[in-house]
Amino acid sequence: MSVEEQLHSRHIEALQVEERRFPPPPEFVAQANAKPEVYEEANGDYEAFWAARARELEWSKPFTRVLEWNEPFARWFADGELNISVNCLDRHVRAGRGERVAYYFEGEPGDRRAVTYNELLLEVCRFANALRAQGIKRGDRVAIYLPMIVELPVAMLACTRIGAAHSVIFGGFSPDAIVDRVTDSGCIALITADFGWRRGKTVPLKENCDAAMERMPDVKCCIVVKRTGDPVNMEPGRDVWWHELIEGQPATCEPEPVDAENLLFILYTSGTTAKPKGIKHTTGGYLTGAATTHKYVFDVKDDDVYWCTADIGWVTGHSYIVYGPLCNGTTGVLYEGTPDHPDKDRFWEIVERYKVTILYTAPTAIRTFMKWGTEYPGKHDLSSLRLLGSVGEPINPEAWMWYRDVIGGGRCPIVDTWWQTETGMIMITPLPGVTTTLPGSATQPFPGVFPDVVDEAGQTVPPGGGGYIVIRKPWPAMLRGIWGDDERYKETYWSKFPHMYLAGDGCRRDKDGNYWFMGRIDDVMNVSGHRISTTEVESALVSHPAVAEAAVVGRSDAMTGQAISAFVLLKGAQVGSEPLALELRAHVGVKLGKFTSPKYLTFTSELPKTRSGKIMRRLLRDISEGRTLGDTTTLADSSIVAELQSRAREEAQKEE
Ligand code: WT7
Repeated sequence: MSVEEQLHSRHIEALQVEERRFPPPPEFVAQANAKPEVYEEANGDYEAFWAARARELEWSKPFTRVLEWNEPFARWFADGELNISVNCLDRHVRAGRGERVAYYFEGEPGDRRAVTYNELLLEVCRFANALRAQGIKRGDRVAIYLPMIVELPVAMLACTRIGAAHSVIFGGFSPDAIVDRVTDSGCIALITADFGWRRGKTVPLKENCDAAMERMPDVKCCIVVKRTGDPVNMEPGRDVWWHELIEGQPATCEPEPVDAENLLFILYTSGTTAKPKGIKHTTGGYLTGAATTHKYVFDVKDDDVYWCTADIGWVTGHSYIVYGPLCNGTTGVLYEGTPDHPDKDRFWEIVERYKVTILYTAPTAIRTFMKWGTEYPGKHDLSSLRLLGSVGEPINPEAWMWYRDVIGGGRCPIVDTWWQTETGMIMITPLPGVTTTLPGSATQPFPGVFPDVVDEAGQTVPPGGGGYIVIRKPWPAMLRGIWGDDERYKETYWSKFPHMYLAGDGCRRDKDGNYWFMGRIDDVMNVSGHRISTTEVESALVSHPAVAEAAVVGRSDAMTGQAISAFVLLKGAQVGSEPLALELRAHVGVKLGKFTSPKYLTFTSELPKTRSGKIMRRLLRDISEGRTLGDTTTLADSSIVAELQSRAREEAQKEE
């Protein structure tokens, strides 16, 4: 099926013409960091534009070269040297800004702590010294599996201080997922906590690491933060407490200057196969991209209190909780827990407490808040807010309007920011003091970013048309490849169209040049803004002894964007049952992490396949969503469709 057909069959609603327009309020325009001229500047000489932004950083050795483009491998500012922790900390302290708060930390149980730049620098230095004492050095990789506590940015920055790379693993992942990621990237140390807090319960992080480390002999050292204080197993010679390790470490630590192209981090993301991709990001270009977009898109000023609600385990947290904001000397909120603990007004309580001015969250959260009702935000004073952001998936116009009216009191511009783990930085977004926004559109390319929408033949589609979103020129924060797999990097992103980066999203561009995103065009689902591969869930299902075959699709879901829907064929003469369905769903949770457990599971005696044996996911999606079926002429055995439709109907009834 062509991308045009997919876009039509999947997101008709998004194609409706949106008439509402919201120009930026004049007061906002008057004080905005980004003026319309930045577009002209970037469109003139785009390398000079990025070089000027990069020169705002502190370089221990200034760069003379800007971009070296050996398609598809980019090097930015390559002969320059810098240290990221110096840019994020020392620079501000030296400028007399050390007493500024870097993070207002809010633990889920309600413990609070304001951490200044002085204190953050001190903690980073101590921990960096501790890492060095453990023999960790430039070029090594360190895995981090921590809750959203201050030690997480401290650990990341300590790695950058000594030139080591980090690989942060989201705390929701299971031991198997830890093993895959740590083994693939060859990490030699693992930083975790005893437990984390989630919705009033503890999450056994150390126990998960213990299970993983049984299969990771190369991990010689595991550093454990005491978060809850509940007992955990500590393996002598391997496991050490964070607080013991930093005891007596000097309060200063000589930073290691690194090349601009030194590996900063690896972050795993799902692709179309079962093996996650280790996305590589390097130092100078990434920091330039993250800091510049943060400053312009979020319009951050000295008196702002900025809160990005993402988890640092995903790229949003890397770029817009840690590196962008700290590089800009921002004061931010770091919240450990869920939005509904102890009650459904937790976010709004936090906004009121810290007088948050800029809030950056996800459509799935906004839709959940809509469902919970206006009484929760209504209990709190949200008048400090002046700017709202959205990221992770397309935001439907209803949610956009609700966000604007109920949370933003009708006065705050909304920035709907499109980007990816691979892009490292926001790519398509309004500039809040410049761009007229439309509910549901990410609007315009960021200055110095050159996307296009092309058809199957790689031709630019005319205004109003839909197609593949591609990027035509390299950008500073772009991925530098996939860890250990240059071929996969070329194949995934650079092979469909010559000289264009393929992002994997469908998109329409209207007559004013506004971009409307319409979801993935590959076998990747987006559940609550988490990217999950259909094949990854399928192989988790098939790893259960009862399962012969499985097919997984993303089914539209009013709350989470997509929900995982699995079709399962059992081995031998086994018949499906309610308990087995529960068991299989739990099995996926154990294999990959609870957030990947299928919401729907249908047993079937056969899967719809083409004559060449390919599973027809489009058909399964239609069946799963109860739609009239599209073309089934390529289907090998059409009787299966009726069976599946009636089962899916049964399931839907059960749900009601
Ligand atoms: C995919 C990237 C980048 C941070 C979070 C996710 C979807 C992201 C938007 C948006 C429409 C969006 C795309 C993209 N996406 N932001 N504003 N509008 N879609 O990072 O896990 O790398 O996922 O998320 O499908 O390809 P990620």
